[in-house]
Amino acid sequence: MPRSDIAKHYQGIIDAMEEGVLLINRKQRIMLHNKRSALLLSWADEIDGKDLKSVIDSSDLCKSASSVFSGKKTERITIAVYEGVCGDEAFIKGHGRERTFRIRVTALDEKLAAVTIADITKIERLSLVRQDFVSNVSHELKTPLTAITGFAETLTDEALTREEIRGFSRIILKNSSHMQRIISDLLLLTSLDRAEIEHVMSTTTDTKIFQEVRSYTQHKANAKETEVIYSPLDREVTCNESLIVQAVANLVLNAIAYSAERSTVEVRTRVRNDMMEIAVSDQGVGISKEDIPRIFERFYRIDKARSRESGGTGLGLSIVRHIAIIHSGTIKVSSKPGEGSVFTLAIPLS
Ligand SMILES: Nc1ncnc2c1ncn2[C@@H]1O[C@H](COP(=O)(O)OP(=O)(O)O)[C@@H](O)[C@H]1O
Ligand SMILES: [Mg+2]
Repeated sequence: MPRSDIAKHYQGIIDAMEEGVLLINRKQRIMLHNKRSALLLSWADEIDGKDLKSVIDSSDLCKSASSVFSGKKTERITIAVYEGVCGDEAFIKGHGRERTFRIRVTALDEKLAAVTIADITKIERLSLVRQDFVSNVSHELKTPLTAITGFAETLTDEALTREEIRGFSRIILKNSSHMQRIISDLLLLTSLDRAEIEHVMSTTTDTKIFQEVRSYTQHKANAKETEVIYSPLDREVTCNESLIVQAVANLVLNAIAYSAERSTVEVRTRVRNDMMEIAVSDQGVGISKEDIPRIFERFYRIDKARSRESGGTGLGLSIVRHIAIIHSGTIKVSSKPGEGSVFTLAIPLS
């Protein structure tokens, strides 16, 4: 193909790119842009001829642009932009969402520079979530492990009484079963992530589900003298039974754990819009408005000591949320601090 023909396709080539591309002159005026850049920067109208600063208001970017013209060649920066928010931070037009851009400014000659813009919001967020998760897991496992190591060391002392030995062994056992619970919850979460269980759907009834839930949770209810009242409708539902049992059991265990002794927990079914809704209500400590969106996060607890005391791993609600999602269902919570909470799991009947 002749060179002139290739030149004709330049605009098409840069329009086909994933990254936003701007061509600026020494005065930092935009000479050329591709479609993606207009989309990224939320500019529906013409960008050409505008100042770079009026499109992305970032002093870091302006500095980078001037330094490439004074011999620096290439500058790379990462900026957080808040669409529609003015102030010290960089901002672009838009709707108030925070985004992260990786921007590279490269001098093409002494008059022109190319600015490439990649939206790395998602990658940034994922990598933060992963870092947090790894550090959380390590911390959660380290606490019981430190107790186990400490008490095992003490056990090697020969001058201990039988009673002391029994006491220390009990602590070791308690902490190792806590570690075991964390690990099996983590494995379950991983398998839910991979949606490995999708094919084991079967038809069952809420009555059967509640019976199973009861057998898993009754010892905890007895220990706190909590009365758990089950009111099934005896309706058929198609689901992964063992997962739904696990989800409802987690809700019932929470209802027991976060209520005073001798209180009442109710588990009842309702059918609405072809969905089976299982509501677990308690008269416990309740959850504040600010905490409600966070309790479904992995390892998030409002009261760490209380959660640990009840044997919680901080993963229970995260598991419930995953189970709801893979059933194309929902999990909702309404709560009043000091009065109690209602968690409602809804899944399609078939
Ligand atoms: N029924 C409830 N009443 C009050 N707080 C609750 C209830 N269920 C859950 N929570 C809060 O949400 C947090 C997360 O719950 P969960 O994921 O089950 O972890 P865990 O129970 O192991 O701490 C709990 O630590 C607790 O602070
Ligand atoms: Mg729990």
